[in-house]
Amino acid sequence: MEKKLIKKIKSYTISGIETLPIVEGGKGVGITNGITAGNFAKAGAVGTFSGVNADYIDENQKYHPLEYKTHTRRERHEELIAYSIKGGISQAKIAHDISSKMGRIHINILWEMGSAERVLHGILDGAKDLIHGITCGAGMPYRLSEIAEKYRVYYYPIVSSMRAFRALWKRSYHKAKDLLGGVVYECPWRAGGHNGLSNAEDPNAYEDPYPRVAEIRSFMNSVGLNDVPIIMAGGVWHLEDFEHWLDNPEIGPIVFQFGTRPILTQEYPVTQAWKKKLLTLKEGDVYLNRFSPTGFYSSAVENDFIRELKEREIHQVDYRSSADDEFTTAIPFGQRGRQVYLRSQDKIKVDQWIAKGFSEGMKTPDDTLIFVDKSKSQQIITDQINCMGCLSQCRFSNWSDKEEMNYTTGRKADPRSFCIQKTLQDIRFDDNIENQLMFSGHSAYRFATDEFYANGFIPTIKQLVDRIMLGK
Ligand SMILES: Cc1cc2nc3c(=O)[nH]c(=O)nc-3n(C[C@H](O)[C@H](O)[C@H](O)COP(=O)(O)O)c2cc1C
Ligand code: SF4
Repeated sequence: MEKKLIKKIKSYTISGIETLPIVEGGKGVGITNGITAGNFAKAGAVGTFSGVNADYIDENQKYHPLEYKTHTRRERHEELIAYSIKGGISQAKIAHDISSKMGRIHINILWEMGSAERVLHGILDGAKDLIHGITCGAGMPYRLSEIAEKYRVYYYPIVSSMRAFRALWKRSYHKAKDLLGGVVYECPWRAGGHNGLSNAEDPNAYEDPYPRVAEIRSFMNSVGLNDVPIIMAGGVWHLEDFEHWLDNPEIGPIVFQFGTRPILTQEYPVTQAWKKKLLTLKEGDVYLNRFSPTGFYSSAVENDFIRELKEREIHQVDYRSSADDEFTTAIPFGQRGRQVYLRSQDKIKVDQWIAKGFSEGMKTPDDTLIFVDKSKSQQIITDQINCMGCLSQCRFSNWSDKEEMNYTTGRKADPRSFCIQKTLQDIRFDDNIENQLMFSGHSAYRFATDEFYANGFIPTIKQLVDRIMLGK
């Protein structure tokens, strides 16, 4: 199955059958679903629906949004889990039906999702014959291999360094070698969505993926994984840019994952406004930020949503609850007007912000106060109250899914972050994309100059797959 224009783009055995070396990067919430995954699979590639709070679609193709009936975070969390399982099973069925048994269907799970393992078990219990592989990133999913073994499906950890994969391998994956379908290397400087930069890595010092992938290959070969593909993700656009990776023993079997490019296809369930915006982006419009409630870096398009979060960080001063030599200037704080103390030079800044309408102080877990306007402060509080526990640990609401921690992280809720569940749900339907989080890979600016998209052309998934196989 070699293609002609780039002679070396090869098919590989992925999750048990030969497929094109193209993987749809899973995208929550609901951005990759049964329809997108099914169409990738039908085109002979690997489709990946998101198992993160997947939409429930019934047998008559009717969408049933989740309407919460309970009141506490814990109860809503349980509703969310039950819904996500039902939703994931329904998306697997849709993907399977569309695929006409071509290609492969994978499910993507965020390990830091609330009760991720329960959701994964639930979906696989109901749909394991329809799902060929699990891709899983964010955090260190040691138990992924056990789950894969239980259901006899392939598994694909997403890592951003050899060290991360080596740790997973040594701890548990070596026990389930036959089901390790591939290792996804996600470039932490370029990929869309959450990014796996470690504390030792500098977000401003981009590192070429080639030596990092070669290092993973070298480790994989040393433990007998010579034939297991590495899936390169993050910044992949034209495969001709990767020609030196192909048929290269330093890299070994190599497959490519696309996250951002597929968003601009007919089948993707995002608004026209989002698709149009992608066609206008310039280099530098997408960058790493650290606002996510998961605590990870992530990559998103700069818009009003990101600018407002940046503003919260700027409108920030240290405070103390009692005065000392440095924190000498008192200001009233909160409804009861209790005094907190600032450095005298900070008081001048605070007065200026208040004069501009940023009148509401909010405490952060780092002994700082941020100043936002009244409506923003109300929105932050409402979003924290409405939390449905979508993450295992949330910096924004202080929710934790651990009973032994009494369902809190033990830290103050952090108003410098946001409810990712709310904004990712909203951006799919909201034309006002300026005010929502728009995750994106750093190469999105290439839409504007890639001739494939000239005159606003939006391909089908099949057309995109064919194009990619031409090296373009
Ligand atoms: C909008 C968006 C949402 C994403 N959501 C997820 C996700 O839920 N889970 C995940 O593992 N990766 C997620 N990703 C990452 C993609 O699966 C993929 O690995 C990445 O986008 C590859 O980089 P690229 O965008 O340069 O192609 C997301 C990416 C984007 C752009
Ligand atoms: S506040 Fe939002 S992002 Fe955080 S756990 Fe709750 S639902 Fe999820």
